[in-house]
Amino acid sequence: MKILITGSNGLLGQKLLSVLTKDTNELYGIDLADKAIVNNILHQYECLNLTNTKTTIDAILGIGPDIIIHTAATTAVDNCEQEKELCWNSNVLTTENIIKASKKTGSKVIFISSDYVFDGKNGPYSEEDLPNPINYYGRSKLAAENMLRGSGLNWTIVRTIVLYGIGINTRSSFVTWLLRQLRTGNTVQIVNDQWGNTTIVDDLATGIERITMLDRKGIYNIASHDYMNRYEFAVKIAEFFDLDCGLISSITTSSLNQPADRPLRSGLKVDKAEKELYISFRTLAEALTLYKKLENN
Ligand SMILES: NC(=O)c1ccc[n+]([C@@H]2O[C@H](COP(=O)([O-])OP(=O)(O)OC[C@H]3O[C@@H](n4cnc5c(N)ncnc54)[C@H](OP(=O)(O)O)[C@@H]3O)[C@@H](O)[C@H]2O)c1
Repeated sequence: MKILITGSNGLLGQKLLSVLTKDTNELYGIDLADKAIVNNILHQYECLNLTNTKTTIDAILGIGPDIIIHTAATTAVDNCEQEKELCWNSNVLTTENIIKASKKTGSKVIFISSDYVFDGKNGPYSEEDLPNPINYYGRSKLAAENMLRGSGLNWTIVRTIVLYGIGINTRSSFVTWLLRQLRTGNTVQIVNDQWGNTTIVDDLATGIERITMLDRKGIYNIASHDYMNRYEFAVKIAEFFDLDCGLISSITTSSLNQPADRPLRSGLKVDKAEKELYISFRTLAEALTLYKKLENN
């Protein structure tokens, strides 16, 4: 199959390339940077801003992909609150352009979304629960979801939460940031009232690979197991890596005065994905074991 990955230089994009290459797929990548980070696997790489309608459509028509996995997005939640137009263009306009092109090429579109489409009043959430975003990032992801759902295309929406893993020159995830702080001996304050599960990128990429192989449609939640608050998550990471838990103190979300509101009781139920994609997602201990192994490679 010809598979196009948008955001192919990102954390998920890089992992998808290494997972999807095992299935004799022809892989294409699009990202903002001049060069592909993982180049040897790609059939073709395009340096392209997906907010540009004409160049996006031309590029996709040139490739003619069977499947487009749209991972490219702006993920900085507070930035999105302060720079709404930029957020809308990155998360919604890019999706609209991909939909326009896919209507001509007949491509299936897999869109990566977030638990931030929910308000965090009564998580963890299943695929059937009603979204109600409370910040602009969440609104932009839901708007893109809705655009795809109404497109008439063959679509799948994959919602995930607190993504982390090992990539080359990728944005700092919570885990990567925390490990850096603790290893430097810095103290950190972590919120104790944001609840959810977390996701090692390897589980997410494997789940998406199954969706491509099985041609699953609709919405799937993909995340690793274990539900806890962010402070507990931080302490578990410190314990696992034999770092000083005493450097971590707990605070509340409201004391941070961040520009964007955060869903507090979030989290994603993953039973549907495990059953229909024939997969078992990792526990936190298993995920951290993998992270440590990849970090030492
Ligand atoms: N990270 C999380 O905790 C989390 C949680 C839930 C859902 N998600 C979703 O998961 C997906 C993947 O996240 P990730 O952590 O892998 O993101 P990431 O590492 O930031 O990767 C996204 C990639 O897309 C590129 N990109 C952004 N805008 C673009 C545009 N207009 N045209 C072309 N390329 C563009 C970025 O380039 P630059 O780096 O140069 O901007 C980056 O290389 C996203 O859709 C995100 O919303 C993430």
